[in-house]
Amino acid sequence: MKRRDFVKTAAAGAAVGSVPVLARPARADATDPATRLAATAAPAIHTRATRPVLVADVSSIRFRNGGPESAIERAFRGITEGEDILDACVAGVNIPEHDPEERGIGYGGLPNADGVVQLDSCLMHGPRKWAGGVAGLEGVKTPSLVAKAVAELTDHHLIVGQGAQEFARALGFEIHDDLNTEASRALWLEWRRRVDPDHWLDPEERLRGTGRTGQDAPARMRRFHDAALAAGLSMVDDGLIDPDSFWGTTSLEAVSPDGDICGVTTTSGLSWKIPGRAGDSPILGAGQYVDNDVGAAGSTGRGEANLYNLSCAMIVEFMRQGMSPRDAGMAVLRRVRDNTVEARLQNSRGLPGFDLRFFILNKAGDYAGVAMYGSAESAFAVCDENGAREEPLEGLLEGSPRD
Ligand code: GLY
Repeated sequence: MKRRDFVKTAAAGAAVGSVPVLARPARADATDPATRLAATAAPAIHTRATRPVLVADVSSIRFRNGGPESAIERAFRGITEGEDILDACVAGVNIPEHDPEERGIGYGGLPNADGVVQLDSCLMHGPRKWAGGVAGLEGVKTPSLVAKAVAELTDHHLIVGQGAQEFARALGFEIHDDLNTEASRALWLEWRRRVDPDHWLDPEERLRGTGRTGQDAPARMRRFHDAALAAGLSMVDDGLIDPDSFWGTTSLEAVSPDGDICGVTTTSGLSWKIPGRAGDSPILGAGQYVDNDVGAAGSTGRGEANLYNLSCAMIVEFMRQGMSPRDAGMAVLRRVRDNTVEARLQNSRGLPGFDLRFFILNKAGDYAGVAMYGSAESAFAVCDENGAREEPLEGLLEGSPRD
């Protein structure tokens, strides 16, 4: 069905309270793991008609991996053609996950302190009440597809590290030796050059757990961590890393013509993180939350703030209590601001020294993109019957996190 025709059908359907949805057949014998997984899925569950809307981080509209569609366009097309809503969202984010130019997720995402790309993802299927996630996954370009397999094939909600890779291998996912590109490797080398050698904990020292000066290990770890973050932020200040990529993440939320809601978040996490660090993106309620009766929220930015405040679950709860997507997002941003009391997390104005962005929608198709800091350039992605576009993020605070 062409989008123009779909929009007419959806409008007519909304008037009578139902929209026909076509199920896309999947083949259990397909070689592609995504298609095989779709074949195991239960039939779609339909609720009521609404207007289909997707909201996402800007990488969902700015990256196409050389193809004709961005993530948000691919997902919108799938949803409006009757594909399962979560399958459509995941197929969407697979585009920037594969794109070597996108430095915040998937292949070519910025690596950890040891130069290894470790990926996180989680997703939620509103009508089926499925959830799945992976953390610290190495060697698989599409952590979102592995998270989907966790949701569809197991009763677990989170598989991490080597176990996540073995799970993916068992399902036929291709395991790559290294997900760095030449560019991500070069940026890691530059970051490594900027970390004061006195503060560097080489991997062997970390494994021994003693540090170079024996008793000094905790203090050295603290210095290493602070120096690592400072060197990374200096690269953002020097324009070597896009601020969107430093904590780079893609999160995509969708409400279908049936009023069903799904969301997926995928990331390479904080650049130069301590190996094994998991942020908010694989954690249900922190970097992603969906309630099919209410709405969805997803996030990018400093994941620790979302872990502490369980931000996305909180946004959905505020919407359940009657707040609009915008007001719910702002209420959680205020909470994060008020909980940011340590000086090392604050800028010179005593405000959060980091950004945080939320992409939010409710069951009626109302949506918002809000951020700790708004600026003329900051935007989020939207796709609805009027097409895919960027809209400005509304900031809670003026200026920049680094002021
Ligand atoms: N929000 C992505 C991360 O902190 O890992």
